[in-house]
Amino acid sequence: MSATLWQVVRAIPGARRLALALGIVRTASVSRRFLLDRMPKGGRCAEIGVHLGDFSEEILRRTEPAELHLIDPWRHETAEIYGDSLYGGQARGQAEMDARHDRVSERFAAPIAGGQVVIQRGNSVDVLGRFPDAYFDWIYIDGNHLYEFVSADLEVAFRKTLPSGWITGDDYHGGGWWQGGVQRAVDEFVVRHAFANVVLRDGQFLLQKAPAAPAAKC
Ligand SMILES: C[S@@+](CC[C@H](N)C(=O)[O-])C[C@H]1O[C@@H](n2cnc3c(N)ncnc32)[C@H](O)[C@@H]1O
Repeated sequence: MSATLWQVVRAIPGARRLALALGIVRTASVSRRFLLDRMPKGGRCAEIGVHLGDFSEEILRRTEPAELHLIDPWRHETAEIYGDSLYGGQARGQAEMDARHDRVSERFAAPIAGGQVVIQRGNSVDVLGRFPDAYFDWIYIDGNHLYEFVSADLEVAFRKTLPSGWITGDDYHGGGWWQGGVQRAVDEFVVRHAFANVVLRDGQFLLQKAPAAPAAKC
């Protein structure tokens, strides 16, 4: 859904509930369910940008991953450009970011204890860089939405996913405080690399890498 439609609906009292009931807009979790239904079950997954873990819970429930790595620095950004972001102007400071990290740790205490979920506090590029290449079945990108950050996330995700693996993410649309940076980065990325499948729907992008090339015969 376009950012503009959400902005209008949120500005009118009662309009959000009515729009949801009429199916004019969908909640983020409903609009992303189709994505989860297409992802491999029981695989290795990373979510870049966790916030409070709402989508992480959906990933766990619907795809039952063998491993889910939750990557987020939970760092308060004070630069002016982050004024409208969840981790800038919409947070009260670093104490709130630390509290969000602690809430996520508590929320997933059981799967963390069982080794299914791993919290990786840090920048996406640094954290993913520590994994072997071709480690993940799929990666969901929903971290820093500025163009340079999304481009870097896409490139590291390309290296760290398996052949036929999926690179997916949120907020593929124009506008937002990030000025369409996600859309621009994804549009350039799909031209730079070959993909077996490209799905752009409901603000989500799903890019399936090409399968491994067959071994050459001598
Ligand atoms: C839109 S929220 C994520 C929402 C979450 N995926 C969900 O759907 O429930 C964006 C998150 O990205 C995180 N973030 C910011 N910079 C990041 C970076 N360099 N690497 C990873 N995460 C980052 C922020 O701290 C914030 O929690």
